[in-house]
Amino acid sequence: MPLAIVSAMREELAAVLEDIEHGVAEQVAGREFWRGRLRGHDVIAVQARIGKVAAAATATVLAERYRVDAILFTGVAGGLATGVQRGDVVVAEEFLQHDMDASPLFPRFEAPLYGRARFPTDLDWSERLASAVKRALPHAVLHQGLVVSGDRFVSSAVESRVLRDTLPDALAVEMEGAAIAQVCLDYGLPYAAVRTVSDRADDEAHGDFQKFIEETASRHSAAIIRALLS
Ligand code: ADE
Repeated sequence: MPLAIVSAMREELAAVLEDIEHGVAEQVAGREFWRGRLRGHDVIAVQARIGKVAAAATATVLAERYRVDAILFTGVAGGLATGVQRGDVVVAEEFLQHDMDASPLFPRFEAPLYGRARFPTDLDWSERLASAVKRALPHAVLHQGLVVSGDRFVSSAVESRVLRDTLPDALAVEMEGAAIAQVCLDYGLPYAAVRTVSDRADDEAHGDFQKFIEETASRHSAAIIRALLS
């Protein structure tokens, strides 16, 4: 069964797609699923598009239609914790939806009827990703821990401070990871995610993000995936 490689944006996936040999694209649910070989492995690469619903729909197709072995996400995130700077890399140990709030029916952040707010990633794949990061980007600072997701591009110092205060162990913020983690829990599918820090989710986030996406994101994704599968 193939390994799925997922990103939200074209720029995060472009160089990975170039590495795929004998790639054949299939259109499902408005997305192109590229199936082929990468460094001797059977893979399916797909651009999920941005946000939790797009990510969940993509993960569901990967589970139901392609019966993938595991889902690996590669992309960018905004740094939240003080020590998480632009250019650092975060491998997620667990995910939480920072915009989930069904209180007072359920505690804030808890996914209703799941009895949990935090969704773990697969230990083995996460360790393999972390080791690939060390080989591919030996000068980058690597963090491992909680990543939070929400349907909002966090682009002000005020908003990122509120997130930092409410979720002090959150390393980074993005818009898809927790949704995929929830779907993977539903299907019993291993999931791991690596995010390069494109911005600090502050007042400069928009410009920093654009620059990073254009110049660096795709190269970093491809280098990490190459190291992982070699
Ligand atoms: N992905 C990259 N930077 C982000 C930010 N500041 N907020 C949400 N998602 C992001």
